[in-house]
Amino acid sequence: MGINGFSTLSETTGKVITCKAAVARGPGQPLVMEEIRVDTPQKMEVRIKILFTSICHTDLSAWQGENEAQQVYPRILGHEAVGVVESVGEGVVDMKEGDHVVPIFNGECGDCAYCKSQKTNLCDKFRVNPFKSVMLNDGKCRFSTKEGEPIFHFLNTSTFSEYTVLDSACVVKIDSKAPLKNMTLLSCGVSTGLGAAWNTANVQAGSTVAVFGLGAVGLAVVEGARARGASKIIGVDLNDNKQVKGQAMGITHFLNPKDFGIPVHEVCLSTITYQSTCILSLFLWSLSHGNQDHELRKIKEMTQGGVDYSFECAGNLDVLRDAFLSTHDEDACTMARESKMITSGWGLTVVLGVHPTPRMLPLHPMELFDGRRIVASVFGDFKGKTQLPHFVRECMQGGVKLEEFISHELPFSKINEAFQLLIDGKSLRCLLHL
Ligand SMILES: NC(=O)c1ccc[n+]([C@@H]2O[C@H](COP(=O)([O-])OP(=O)(O)OC[C@H]3O[C@@H](n4cnc5c(N)ncnc54)[C@H](O)[C@@H]3O)[C@@H](O)[C@H]2O)c1
Ligand SMILES: [Zn+2]
Ligand SMILES: [Zn+2]
Repeated sequence: MGINGFSTLSETTGKVITCKAAVARGPGQPLVMEEIRVDTPQKMEVRIKILFTSICHTDLSAWQGENEAQQVYPRILGHEAVGVVESVGEGVVDMKEGDHVVPIFNGECGDCAYCKSQKTNLCDKFRVNPFKSVMLNDGKCRFSTKEGEPIFHFLNTSTFSEYTVLDSACVVKIDSKAPLKNMTLLSCGVSTGLGAAWNTANVQAGSTVAVFGLGAVGLAVVEGARARGASKIIGVDLNDNKQVKGQAMGITHFLNPKDFGIPVHEVCLSTITYQSTCILSLFLWSLSHGNQDHELRKIKEMTQGGVDYSFECAGNLDVLRDAFLSTHDEDACTMARESKMITSGWGLTVVLGVHPTPRMLPLHPMELFDGRRIVASVFGDFKGKTQLPHFVRECMQGGVKLEEFISHELPFSKINEAFQLLIDGKSLRCLLHL
């Protein structure tokens, strides 16, 4: 007998599988546990049996239909999981039935110019694409209802199903001895946050860090910064309950914006219209006079002018602006007093949150002239197929506290409860057993 009742794999090879899936039928509507049909994998595709899956905020945003243009129904959401290969399609040579695997929403074909470049982890063909809802091979779905209605795919993965079909570029074979439950976390949240600290920002020992949003992604950034020897890690979250978990993961300070005055962006946006460089002084004035009690000022006090690295992990533009302004800059009060136009600073802000469209960066281009930088990170800049197996081994050696991220466990049938736990800010990751 194998794992989760999965035994003789070849029994289903080459046949359509009937199994249970949690199907999204409309924005915000409870997922419906349905019997569905899962087709055989085609050329360079893999069919896997999902053993454990969890819910990332990106699933929640998709379920709520946050981006109208991306809505298609019926659809199977889910992208954080671990599974076992049931069968492979023609041409797949790096995996075979029975292999333990992690699905990746940001695939790596290995052949395109992007995959061959060290400058990006976005594959030309299988990069994360929220608009993609069918397989690349034939533009069709591998899922259907018992009546034959197609069910759409999500983020190259669709893991809220007992069986799913993926392009082999979106499946990573992992060490068979790796603890399966924990490996689910490497599918998205933990790899994203840790990779953002290690690969994107390359956090240095002794540096100062602010993390905005202490969900699984933010706490993985904390874990990565702690492992790198950051001297101060300031966690910022609207939910006070995140303080205890944050401290267990390595935050040295916790700030709740609700405890401070009005947000800095409100002052800035109401005071200025972004039109000329002269406005920068006005902006600095507003910064220095309008929000003395704001958490931003607190961060600057705590870090002698701002942090070296900030990470936005909430998917909120106001938070992004605060994250940007929390990096190091000459004191705004001094600047305003001395009527200086040009500031000098440093620091890197990493955007991790997924922002609804249509939205633009909440920055004036001139604000970048003072030395602070901003960059985004998808999947922590990991190239999934080539780098994840090594990361798995690092985790197996105890380098990363993975179990801390699993706050709840429930049977797959209770997936709607698991969504509610995330909505209520009660869970980090709720592991669903299939
Ligand atoms: N870039 C990527 O590759 C990638 C990968 C995974 C997730 N994401 C995105 O990262 C974000 C975080 O995902 P998660 O699964 O950790 O979410 P989560 O829901 O578990 O955590 C989000 C946290 O942000 C806090 N928060 C919300 N609004 C806030 C505010 N105004 N100020 C301070 N804190 C606030 C919440 O209280 C919560 O603790 C989401 O936007 C998700 O879509 C991006
Ligand atoms: Zn995710
Ligand atoms: Zn590629």
